[in-house]
Amino acid sequence: MEQASGRKVAVIGFGTVGVGWTALFLANGHHVTVHDPQAGDLAGVEAALAASLDSLRALGRTKRGRLSLAASPEEACAGADFVQENAPERQDFKADLLRRLDAAAPEHAIVASSTSSLLWSELTPQCRRPERVIVAHPFNPPHLVPLVELFGIDGDVLDRAEEFYAGLGMQPVRLRKEMRGHIANRLSSALYREAVHLVEEGVASVAEIDAALRHGPGLRWAVMGAHLTYHLGGGKGGIRHYLDHLGPSQERRWQDLGQPSLHPALKARLVEGVEAEAGGRSVAELEAERDAALVALRRVLKEIGQ
Ligand SMILES: NC(=O)c1ccc[n+]([C@@H]2O[C@H](COP(=O)([O-])OP(=O)(O)OC[C@H]3O[C@@H](n4cnc5c(N)ncnc54)[C@H](O)[C@@H]3O)[C@@H](O)[C@H]2O)c1
Repeated sequence: MEQASGRKVAVIGFGTVGVGWTALFLANGHHVTVHDPQAGDLAGVEAALAASLDSLRALGRTKRGRLSLAASPEEACAGADFVQENAPERQDFKADLLRRLDAAAPEHAIVASSTSSLLWSELTPQCRRPERVIVAHPFNPPHLVPLVELFGIDGDVLDRAEEFYAGLGMQPVRLRKEMRGHIANRLSSALYREAVHLVEEGVASVAEIDAALRHGPGLRWAVMGAHLTYHLGGGKGGIRHYLDHLGPSQERRWQDLGQPSLHPALKARLVEGVEAEAGGRSVAELEAERDAALVALRRVLKEIGQ
């Protein structure tokens, strides 16, 4: 194991996302202090991190920083260079928590929120130094999916945050304007809305719709995004030809897309369909399958220079 001489990071909220962040920070040699009222003792926290740290080792992230627990957000922030907040997604609660984190963190520290759907302007009104508070939204699981979406109002703070996340092997993408769901969750939600609509319409089963996504667009999207993909869809004429030739058919499909609401009967069909697709595999087993595949994919993408 390599010696760690990293920075001090406070992780506030040790749930689905907080666990991944903590593993990623530790495996890059940063020293992490976790605060979560439900975190339990250090042995339990170590146990929760074990599988994520194994995945990171397989990706060559072999450093190991110190891990400690704090009894309050303020205690976690003492001496921190970076604060990553991953507490429950409730606006009033998060705004108050960020106020406390901003008040407690050292002057030079950056305070980042993992919020999926809250806006920076909704989170920071009570902060004394809102310019050092940013949105830094990861994609689950944060230790294996490199995207982190950044929004803030101070270019220098964003430069420093970008450097920090890039140093973890992540791919920061900055938003020029705040938007609910940022970029990636809006794209995901647009797709999920249609996946739900297709179930409601009885076009295919939950598992068949997932298969169509995984074996089709999903495979391409790991290599090229939607825009560049359609550039190739236009053949030699590229995106200009694509938009002239197939743009009208895109517009016809856009007009036909569904607007489902998650009423009880539809929720029951989704749950039944997902359980059938899972075929008795637990969430932990599915996570392990996903993570092993993500590690393999990351290695291949690295090998081919992506
Ligand atoms: N789950 C995802 O896929 C995902 C992806 C990206 C971002 N996010 C964002 O990350 C944040 C956390 O989401 P999650 O899915 O990890 O939720 P989660 O419910 O798994 O974890 C939240 C944790 O916060 C803890 N908590 C409660 N009160 C707290 C307090 N006062 N101080 C510190 N911790 C407290 C809870 O005990 C829990 O462990 C949300 O803002 C969410 O939008 C989630």
